[in-house]
Amino acid sequence: MGKLDRPYTTRYTTEMPAMGDAPLPVAPYVSRAFFELEREKVFRRAWLEVARVEDVPDPGDYRVVDIDVLGWSLLLTRGSDGALRAFHNVCPHRGNKVVQHRAGHANGFTCGFHGWVFGNDGELKHMAGEAYFPPGTDRCRLGLIPVTLDTWNGFVFIHPQAEPPQTLRDFLGGMADQIEDFPFDRCARIARYEATPRANWKVVLDAFQEAFHAIMVHRGSLPDSAAAPQNPSAAPTSARFHGPHRSLSVWASPRYRPPEVGMIVGKYGPTFATAKDRFAGINPDGDDSWWFDINVFFPNFFCDTGPGWYFTYNFWPVSENRTRWTMDIYQLRAPHAGGLLAQEHTKILLRDAVLEDFSTLEATQQMMESGALTHITISELEIALRHQMHIIDQWLAA
Ligand code: FES
Ligand SMILES: [Fe+2]
Repeated sequence: MGKLDRPYTTRYTTEMPAMGDAPLPVAPYVSRAFFELEREKVFRRAWLEVARVEDVPDPGDYRVVDIDVLGWSLLLTRGSDGALRAFHNVCPHRGNKVVQHRAGHANGFTCGFHGWVFGNDGELKHMAGEAYFPPGTDRCRLGLIPVTLDTWNGFVFIHPQAEPPQTLRDFLGGMADQIEDFPFDRCARIARYEATPRANWKVVLDAFQEAFHAIMVHRGSLPDSAAAPQNPSAAPTSARFHGPHRSLSVWASPRYRPPEVGMIVGKYGPTFATAKDRFAGINPDGDDSWWFDINVFFPNFFCDTGPGWYFTYNFWPVSENRTRWTMDIYQLRAPHAGGLLAQEHTKILLRDAVLEDFSTLEATQQMMESGALTHITISELEIALRHQMHIIDQWLAA
């Protein structure tokens, strides 16, 4: 049974005794005031993942990313010079939103209010009405306002501050070290799912950072996959804290039998249910019966890595009880039609699984808001929830 005998409790509490083992208060999941603190002290101070570089692959490509928690609309551009940039999607003339649609290709952007034109490098190229502005108006200072941007392994992050206290790489720290060599560049996005549940962002995020629920919630899509007599509560096989970030390895029951169609298409390419291949950057503790790694980048981004595929989640708070959730699924590029079938199987299986995940979120939020509970009771299986709340508390106190 190997590592499943490991006394998780001892190990985790020894690593981070400050997390304690007390119940977690409900207030952070329902309170408007707490949400406002998170906005100011977490989301305005963290590196935030907003896209993949292949979302704006060629010079002239652009994409708009609205970030409700900051109240920002972000314009990501690939300049004619090939550089990736981020700007506030706001016209410095009178404040109109410059680009209204989500993505496209253009050498420049014309504001729809009075016709100022900006290059994809952000410069003001044409200042309609220029002769009528006061003397001394400096058009060089009236370009689009830049936003701090950096990339890691093809993931595009922005920072709300002009001069972040840490570089992106320093912020990612050991989390990035762990999965640095995963073959992200050999994978392609095969699906995107989106939803806006009526639930606090941490209610949604928490539902994806433990496997305990899989026994109940995923008994339809993934029966007998997460638990078995030797691991009856779906304990993670290992877990790691990397500063504010964390990583858990999910155990796969040897008794699990993928659906027959999965077994067939699994011969042609990796699937969520069947793949067993070895890659760099996965299964960091070399666990037996390992399935995949849940990798949580604080505060609101996941990059879960498996043998030939990975998927990401972004949990964007809209308000204290509304979250915009997106899931992007990536898999090794398919070399033939059989590989495409394997991709389809991953897509459909994960679609069914996340639909199951969504079955609990709004009811949980509603009951938390009922006032009946002041605290929730957290096990070691849910150590990631405790770590997330611990880090948030630290950031709020800073
Ligand atoms: S607000 Fe953009 S040109 Fe006037
Ligand atoms: Fe789940």
